[in-house]
Amino acid sequence: MKKGWRKEILQILGILTCAYFLIMCLMAMQLHVQHRNIDFFYEDQDHEHIHFSHTSGYCYKGPSIAQIARQNANFSTEQSIESRILGSCTMPVSSADVEMDALWRTLDVSYPLALSVGGWLDVVQVYSWVTKPLTVIIVPHSHQDPGWLFTYEYYFETYSNRIINLMVEQLTKNPAWRFVWSEVCWLEKWWEKASQSQKDSFTRLVRNGQLEIVSGGWVMPDEAVVHYSAMLNQLIDGHQWLMTHVGITPNISWSIDPFGHSPTTAYFNKRSGAKAMVIQRIHFGIKRHLAKINTMEFQWRQIWDSGSKTDIMTHILPFASYAITHSCGPNSHVCCQFDFYQKKCYYGKKSIRSEEINERNVKAKAWLLWEQFQKKSELFRENVLLVPHGDDFRYSDPREWEKQLGNLEKLMAYINSDKEMNTKVRFGTLSEYFTELEKAQTRPFPTFTGDFFPYSDRSDQYWTGFYTSRPHLKYLARRIQSLLRSVEILYAAAVAKANKMSEQLYSLLKLLPDLNVGRQELALFQHHDAITGTSRKTVTENYRERLQHTFSKLKPVYEKVTQIYLEQSLSVTKNHTVTMISDWMSMPLKELRKKLVHISQKRKLVIFNPLGHSRRVVLALMVDKPNVKVTNSSTTLTIPHQISPVWEKAGFIEDLYELSFEVNLPALSLSEVTVEKGEATQNTRLVFYTQPDTFFMNITLPGINIYQENSPYFSVSNGYLTAYFYTCNGRLQYVHYKSTGHLWRSEVKVVTYTSGKTWSTMFKDKGGAYTFVPDGPAETLSEPVDALFLIDGPLFSRVVTVQPTITQTVTIYKTHSNMAKGVHIENKVNMQKLDNTELMMRVESDIGESRAEMCVDLNGFQVKKY
Ligand SMILES: *[C@@H]1O[C@H](CO)[C@@H](O)[C@H](O)[C@H]1NC(C)=O
Ligand SMILES: *[C@@H]1O[C@H](CO)[C@@H](O)[C@H](O)[C@H]1NC(C)=O
Ligand SMILES: *[C@@H]1O[C@H](CO)[C@@H](O)[C@H](O)[C@H]1NC(C)=O
Ligand SMILES: *[C@@H]1O[C@H](CO)[C@@H](O)[C@H](O)[C@H]1NC(C)=O
Ligand SMILES: *[C@@H]1O[C@H](CO)[C@@H](O)[C@H](O)[C@H]1NC(C)=O
Repeated sequence: MKKGWRKEILQILGILTCAYFLIMCLMAMQLHVQHRNIDFFYEDQDHEHIHFSHTSGYCYKGPSIAQIARQNANFSTEQSIESRILGSCTMPVSSADVEMDALWRTLDVSYPLALSVGGWLDVVQVYSWVTKPLTVIIVPHSHQDPGWLFTYEYYFETYSNRIINLMVEQLTKNPAWRFVWSEVCWLEKWWEKASQSQKDSFTRLVRNGQLEIVSGGWVMPDEAVVHYSAMLNQLIDGHQWLMTHVGITPNISWSIDPFGHSPTTAYFNKRSGAKAMVIQRIHFGIKRHLAKINTMEFQWRQIWDSGSKTDIMTHILPFASYAITHSCGPNSHVCCQFDFYQKKCYYGKKSIRSEEINERNVKAKAWLLWEQFQKKSELFRENVLLVPHGDDFRYSDPREWEKQLGNLEKLMAYINSDKEMNTKVRFGTLSEYFTELEKAQTRPFPTFTGDFFPYSDRSDQYWTGFYTSRPHLKYLARRIQSLLRSVEILYAAAVAKANKMSEQLYSLLKLLPDLNVGRQELALFQHHDAITGTSRKTVTENYRERLQHTFSKLKPVYEKVTQIYLEQSLSVTKNHTVTMISDWMSMPLKELRKKLVHISQKRKLVIFNPLGHSRRVVLALMVDKPNVKVTNSSTTLTIPHQISPVWEKAGFIEDLYELSFEVNLPALSLSEVTVEKGEATQNTRLVFYTQPDTFFMNITLPGINIYQENSPYFSVSNGYLTAYFYTCNGRLQYVHYKSTGHLWRSEVKVVTYTSGKTWSTMFKDKGGAYTFVPDGPAETLSEPVDALFLIDGPLFSRVVTVQPTITQTVTIYKTHSNMAKGVHIENKVNMQKLDNTELMMRVESDIGESRAEMCVDLNGFQVKKY
């Protein structure tokens, strides 16, 4: 028994959860496959029946677990797989000129073997070109990260506020100048500070077309790890702010920095009224290929669209980045000379100063720039060219405006007047570019289906590290998102029900500012350096504090709104208070566990299902007594429950139990159950397979029967399946499905990759927050098993394997819902122990073997084959 657990040194834990539904979701097979299983009886080296344990040497000698499982299972040797059972990823119904899924199979991903100063090479080259008449639109822009190397607030005070002030001032002074602005989070902050005349000028510039708000989301969200509802939330908040304050809705999307691009974004852009979109970061091999086949502009189509309703015009910036150096044409050494406010422009080792444009050099410089325009336009189908001109936090100094746009004006004047060049060049917004393009269009653009993940900008630098960077923060953001959804639904319902001028309506309206804080903070966190985990540590800390603050704002709103809603439906009187059973996990971890519910008095539990479909779920609460009774408030019938002991670090916690029971929740409903003191029940078994040295078997846990077993393997079952585990490592090995007789190898392994640790990789780029660049193949995590036990009760069987770095929990539900059809795995990881290490859970399975296809989701919005 471990008392005084609060005094334990608080550890930084990250929770990686994985609901692993063996057949249902992870893998699916194509059609009816007959699989003659000869190898099945002979286990190969890898899953040899003698298992070696790192702590105790050989842990088991005997018949293989497969043999044992086979005997128990009485299955046929023919494993036939029916597509009905396995399902399939969404069938693509669309067809397109370029289909990314097919393209991957043949794509050349070799990176040129050469060294360049910055490590980047221009993989998109133009080797030959023909002179053509051109219309060139130069689009000045400034990229603003709401948090990256510095915090959002710091950037605003130091840069963004000044940039917007200057933008308004300079564009007003120079009617030919243009600018595009993207994130609304800055505009909202600026609006609070700005004078009325500044606001009026801002609105006038937007109205007269000099300033275009592009995308107009709250931020420029990441597109890989964001959930679609948060993606939409930030777009709606941005667009609503613009409609309210400026009276416009953007119609061009500009997403130039996120690390890969999702068709979900394309779909939302389309549905929000966008005419076209600009993207930048896609795999260099894809860029090279699309350049080769002249498809840098295309109609992006959803894979499930059998027609062309979802098509949206998409333009890819063709070179390495959105910076000026990579914008005017393929030669970065030339383009950087036209960044008139920089100090780093090199040709080889020779530094090139950017020169002011004057009468003496204008002709030579204009021809130089013109040639880049000509070469760049070789990559596009029409003689209209988009040339962005900006970079991160640029235009924060009045001198930069004058230098950049002033010098470009001189060059443009020369080019426009030189008949030989046959080129019309001007400043423009993205709308102006796409309008020119539409005018010039001679034939339809090709169509494209698929996504742009993973992103790689050079050689083996795959930007997949950020999928899992700072998992704790990613988890917190999802929690805020789900809380916000619940709050919003109940809020809307309660407001709709409230009488006009009533006290209720008044108290609801008072909650609105806090609800908006929740929306805006969640929106901010979708920024492509926030949810991705690619900001500096101090900035990350700032985001975490903001999320926590958001939670503390939303929680009382949730409680109050629920209370009002319940009062409205008359099931609760005014003198009840509603308290949310929060399980916010702050860092450092003061409150790791779910809030404790004291059973000494009768408790009414209100459960909200914010989803649009009904659910049968097993809920869990922390209670202080093992003898409880749970009742369905509407029927007054008893709901069966299970009491489980709670393990923490090295022992079970006294006077703390997990109470679990199954509820049936209709779509968008509030249900009530009562929890109170009840008869003592003895329905849970606790079986120890391995126990820590410090642990004594003479403990007593009221309500729980304790056993000890020493078998080399063990299994747990429900009505659908039996799962087999090895005792030596506590890991799942096989799953037998009763209805079909299938016995699948389902070996769970915890493995690690390291980066920059071996001699040969010491001087190479290491993996980090952005990229996944391991030293070599993964290694099995070699750690002793401190404790291995099974909690077996009427609702579920749970196998818990405790190791220093990871506590793995595998649960099999005994209910009759879909929850029971899979094996649920949850990992709790102590990340403090992992330095330069990537931790993975791997499932090795023979399910379908090579014919299996893996389905993954895109932003929780669509499923695709991977
Ligand atoms: C094994 O399966 C066969 C065929 O389905 C059945 O006839 C037999 O009774 C089963 N044996 C046991 C022990 O369940
Ligand atoms: C976007 O909307 C603005 C204002 O209605 C309009 O002037 C512009 O032409 C539109 N852009 C495109 C590409 O249609
Ligand atoms: C609620 O208030 C009413 C009247 O104020 C009182 O009669 C009732 O006992 C109270 N209920 C509870 C649960 O406190
Ligand atoms: C309570 O019982 C009713 C009637 O069977 C059922 O519809 C409802 O879903 C149950 N409530 C919960 C929370 O399970
Ligand atoms: C039983 O537990 C107590 C501590 O609770 C310990 O001191 C004692 O040694 C244990 N007895 C045995 C036989 O393990």
